[in-house]
Amino acid sequence: VIANALQKTLNLRVLPPRGRALPLQKPCVLWFTGLSGAGKSTLAGALKDALDARGCPNTSLDGDVLREGLCSDLGFSEDDRRENIRRVAHVAGLMARANLVVLVTLVSPIRASRDAARALLSPHEFLEVFVDAPLSVVQQRDTKGLYARARAGENIQLTGVQAPYEAPEAPELRIDSSACTPAEARDRLLGLLASRGVIPQQAARVIHLP
Ligand SMILES: Nc1ncnc2c1ncn2[C@@H]1O[C@H](COP(=O)(O)OP(=O)(O)OP(=O)(O)O)[C@@H](O)[C@H]1O
Ligand SMILES: [Mg+2]
Repeated sequence: VIANALQKTLNLRVLPPRGRALPLQKPCVLWFTGLSGAGKSTLAGALKDALDARGCPNTSLDGDVLREGLCSDLGFSEDDRRENIRRVAHVAGLMARANLVVLVTLVSPIRASRDAARALLSPHEFLEVFVDAPLSVVQQRDTKGLYARARAGENIQLTGVQAPYEAPEAPELRIDSSACTPAEARDRLLGLLASRGVIPQQAARVIHLP
């Protein structure tokens, strides 16, 4: 009753029960790239919560987690980074075949590697999200202490400081995480998915009843 009243009064669509998929979801790989500390994992986590709340099947492939298992034999040389991305891209492709929205969070500093990942999928299935923030901001955040280690002279091939970061030239979305809140960024990500037909339009603006 409350749901119907709200729906009429506010002209909002009310969600089906949690966990039930809305129809029409299309698979895609959302590839978050950016410097360490830019906010890739934070934003993918916020988006994941929003997708879960809307019943949109999704999964996450996070660089740190994968380096503990599937990619534990790889370091941070250029060759190893390329191989890391190749493996993750293939796994992401398989997960997309299972109709999931796949949230990949990897620094993925080399443009050619990201383009190779893109080439594994249909053109509309790969969405590159450039999570951008000035180096000074990510150095200040320094969530993992990596920038401090590099500053202290340790050679850890840190992207943006000791190793190059090749920014995307034409990402599907660029988010400056120093200029918006995670919630604003999450809503832009939902908007991107809706505009590409990955999730239904109404899923980008639905509300949840308690
Ligand atoms: N608007 C914002 N969007 C995302 N993160 C933000 C924002 N504002 C502040 N932060 C903070 O910035 C940090 C981003 O860290 P996060 O681990 O998400 O980065 P990352 O890109 O995944 O780094 P890494 O490549 O090292 O895993 C978090 O501590 C987060 O709380
Ligand atoms: Mg991360």
